[in-house]
Amino acid sequence: MKIAVLPGDGIGTEIVAEAVKVLKVLDLRFELESALVGGAAFEAHGHPLPDATLKLARDADAVLFGAVGDWKYDRLERHLRPEQAILGLRKNLGLFANFRPAICYEQLVGASSLRPELIAGLDILIIRELTGDIYFGQPRGRRTAVDGHFPGDEEAFDTMRYSRPEIERIAHVAFQAARKRSKRVTSVDKANVLETFQFWKDVVSEVGLLYPDVALDHMYVDNAAMQLVKAPKKFDVLVTGNMFGDILSDEAAMLTGSIGMLPSASLNAGNQGLYEPSHGSAPDIAGQGVANPLATILSVAMMLRFSLNQPEAAQRIEAAVKDVLAAGLRTGDIYSEGTTRVGTQAMGDAVVAAVTNNKG
Ligand code: IPM
Ligand code: MG
Repeated sequence: MKIAVLPGDGIGTEIVAEAVKVLKVLDLRFELESALVGGAAFEAHGHPLPDATLKLARDADAVLFGAVGDWKYDRLERHLRPEQAILGLRKNLGLFANFRPAICYEQLVGASSLRPELIAGLDILIIRELTGDIYFGQPRGRRTAVDGHFPGDEEAFDTMRYSRPEIERIAHVAFQAARKRSKRVTSVDKANVLETFQFWKDVVSEVGLLYPDVALDHMYVDNAAMQLVKAPKKFDVLVTGNMFGDILSDEAAMLTGSIGMLPSASLNAGNQGLYEPSHGSAPDIAGQGVANPLATILSVAMMLRFSLNQPEAAQRIEAAVKDVLAAGLRTGDIYSEGTTRVGTQAMGDAVVAAVTNNKG
């Protein structure tokens, strides 16, 4: 089993180091190889996704990814910006299915900005289509308008599009995931305005007929954004397009109190996957040793389960994370009075110790 390790920028290097520690303490044989990605790769090689990094990722069974980006790269040409690395990996590896669970841990109920009764026991799964939609649609660009309200003036445009097979395959992923949970799928669209999302709704409904045991409902994205903060526990699996999924998954993450707790998986048709925390590179706290490594550590658990076929090891990690929370250890983002504030490394060490203690 080969794992490509791409720490990236900002807190990426700190949190991935902790996740690698946890991986190494499981008595499993992996080959780990690291490479630069994002701003770090741009600095060293002039490109955020160098060929060698892409090749390493392609040849691996799974990719462990930290985070990319820093405000200092905001003025670079778009194709050189750190974010292009993650978009390029998704596209090149065909990682169309993005799993973003939002789970509220019992001990962290108080960390949410919502009232405890709204989020205690929350366990929803956002499935975001990751290689289509307005993110990748062509044409896009800037030009001089020939029509519209201001002909002759500068304008910019992007293309929102989805093909039938793209919608069908992500819909199958959602229905199959729902079968392992409480068998409900909410498909999020904007069919009242957008052609692309009327088509999305139609195709998801067709696929839904093949899963009579799963209840399907449809919701407009603006309403979904509202329902997520009003009554989040009503949802089970949410499936949506790339852009709506980007937005709603951040919103859902915050329901749980800290985005620092949430892992994610991005899979292709062959179950090769990229695993990363749902949060970003947080350049404001980089290098201080205070970032929460748990989302990345939990991403390792997802990797073991989805791509490496090691469900018991995955469970050991998840149990260890619950143990350290129960013991009262907290990084700054999830700290509350009466708990023990620890840094990135101490948190990683505590998980390593808990994994070692629970031999399963
Ligand atoms: C995410 C991020 C990325 C996205 C950025 C970094 C390109 O926000 O993974 O949600 O928009 O998909
Ligand atoms: Mg995002």
